[in-house]
Amino acid sequence: MDRDQVRDRITFLREEIDRHNRLYYRQTTPEISDQEFDALLQELQDLEAAHPEWADDSSPTARVGSDSDERFPSVAHSVPMLSLQNSYDSAEVAAFDQRVRKDMGGHEVLYTVEPKMDGVALAVRYRQGRLTLGLTRGDGTKGDDITANARTLAEIPDSLPPDWASFFPWSGVTAFEARGEVYLKLSQFAELNKQREAEGQELLANPRNATAGTLKTLDTAEVARRGLSVFFYQLFALDDTGQERHPGHVSEGRDFPDHQSEMATLDALGLPVNPFFRTAKDLPELQAHLEDLAGMRDTLDYQIDGAVIKVDSRLWQERLGSTAKAPRWGLAFKFPAEEAVTLLKEITLQVGRTGVITPVAELEPVRLAGTTVSRATLHNWDELQRKDIRVGDQVVVVKGGDIIPKVLRVLPEYRDGTQLSFPAPDQCPVCGTATVQQEGEVALRCGNPVCPAVVAGQLRHFASRNACDIDGLGGRSIDLFLELGLIEGPADLFALKSEVLSALPGWGEKSAERLRAGLQAARQRPWQAKIFALGIPQVGVSTALTLARQFPDIHALMEAAPEDLALLDDIGPVVGEQVATFFQGEAGRQLVQALLAADFFLETEQLPTAPISVSGDNWFAGKTFVVTGTLEAMTRDEAKAAVTSLGGKVTGSVSKKTDVLVAGEKAGSKLTKATDLGIPVLEEEAFLEKLAEAGWQDTGNV
Ligand code: IVH
Repeated sequence: MDRDQVRDRITFLREEIDRHNRLYYRQTTPEISDQEFDALLQELQDLEAAHPEWADDSSPTARVGSDSDERFPSVAHSVPMLSLQNSYDSAEVAAFDQRVRKDMGGHEVLYTVEPKMDGVALAVRYRQGRLTLGLTRGDGTKGDDITANARTLAEIPDSLPPDWASFFPWSGVTAFEARGEVYLKLSQFAELNKQREAEGQELLANPRNATAGTLKTLDTAEVARRGLSVFFYQLFALDDTGQERHPGHVSEGRDFPDHQSEMATLDALGLPVNPFFRTAKDLPELQAHLEDLAGMRDTLDYQIDGAVIKVDSRLWQERLGSTAKAPRWGLAFKFPAEEAVTLLKEITLQVGRTGVITPVAELEPVRLAGTTVSRATLHNWDELQRKDIRVGDQVVVVKGGDIIPKVLRVLPEYRDGTQLSFPAPDQCPVCGTATVQQEGEVALRCGNPVCPAVVAGQLRHFASRNACDIDGLGGRSIDLFLELGLIEGPADLFALKSEVLSALPGWGEKSAERLRAGLQAARQRPWQAKIFALGIPQVGVSTALTLARQFPDIHALMEAAPEDLALLDDIGPVVGEQVATFFQGEAGRQLVQALLAADFFLETEQLPTAPISVSGDNWFAGKTFVVTGTLEAMTRDEAKAAVTSLGGKVTGSVSKKTDVLVAGEKAGSKLTKATDLGIPVLEEEAFLEKLAEAGWQDTGNV
């Protein structure tokens, strides 16, 4: 970049950062992730460092963001309310440790580690044991007076016990200020949204925004109703003057010796502190605590976005001091973002085993929740249109429960006119056959039942773990066989000759023998696995099991009437119809005939005793589930299959015996009933997370 370009870039970054600060602090509708924001700020800092001639006191690098709001009186902070330096990986933590040790001249250091609450900063002042003021961060030097709202928090006492001053380790304290983070418990957030939904009100986007919005509400009764919580992490005495200031100096014995005793005093005063507060004497211990905190993130009833590391000694805090923005004695360690912004480079099309054509976003690789993401599903054209996603857009990607990354939304303000909409294809991208849309379906399909992509998908499904589990047959081999014209469908696998196989590139006698044995074992697979292997639309592992229990062999199953099928548990008229149609249709019939000829089906199939691939002690095993509403990442049947494959039981209606309700979008009466009965409700994201934790892999879809 030449000088002019650098200058333009600095101007652009300053404006852009200010804009995002306004979105975050005032309108509480951030458009970008914290990580993206920090990247902009870092770039600006680097450019300003390289060009000190363009330094500017009003640059966002010299200020903290502001949440000031004209509707509330503005009050000066006793001491500036600073922000913290952010870090994102263990190398940055190590660098912080090194810097601190260097600045402390090799002196021994003790750190504290505590959760970084993803809430809204609040300062409260007490005088003579009574709450006198509640103040937001504002611009860091002055905040908004939200005392009336702060008073409504059950966890912020209006008055303290008479002996409150004795909890301070020095005498003569008449007033103090405590700072902390206000937040909304996840359970409370869910409860509020449930009520709002019932009342037809717009839903709150997330707990942090809900907290920020609530603190800025003028109706205190409404604030009280929202049930906000708070954790405090800072405490200092105030001068007994009208102009409050922080007079404490550790060296003069008018401050806490360390952060630990500061926290203990908050606790003694009855101001809540986070229970997950630890100390660490060195870097390994520090890193271990950070890992622990990251690990428990999903188990807490509140959102944390990282951990805060502080030098414990207040004397050293004083000596290390602060920059205009942040203390040198503290560091925020941010957990991997669960949202990231990146460029959508291209949209490609994937044809699945049922012929469904799915648009896939090809992304500029980006770090997300600990992994690098370069592709994300776009589901279907309805979704593409609804979200107005175009090639060349900057998009926000999220991980749906650590399984499938998806595009959440686009950032239209980054458009420069070169972005292109992506029309729905009228031809299959693989075989060129015209696409079809079945009535009542949003999905587009390839109309060719022998489309190479469909056949390859069917073969992969046939060989997959919950189906025939064919040892020695991977996706690459399937592609090779198809390419060479050795097979056209699953049944042909059984006719492959060892001599032919062992002569193939990358193959030998050993691999040929392994596949032969794998195919022989496939004939002995449990009956339900064979049914699942057929790839009947809507028939997942769980439905296959139901069918296997009811129909002893392939002949009985093929002849089942839709009305008999519909009566079965977990099946119903729609799936019943699909099953019957599959066996009556040309493709289904041919597949079964060919497999019969290959001796794949046995006269006496192995009847199911236990569900497939139950791995005993996972969260699902032994629990009873009901699945309701529309899920995004999978069909309801696939969700049921996933639960069953992990040893859970799925029933059709909610009762006292139900352990968990999995609720997708537009969940109706079942959700109401579950709530009435106090049955835990898992939304899709949390459900996918639990599946991932239990080690579930989606083998039903290719
Ligand atoms: S200590 C001098 N401890 O994170 C700043 N802050 O990014 C001392 N926060 O302004 C802050 N949890 O609003 C501290 N355990 C914690 C925190 C915490 C959340 C917030 C706080 C702070 C911001 C900095």
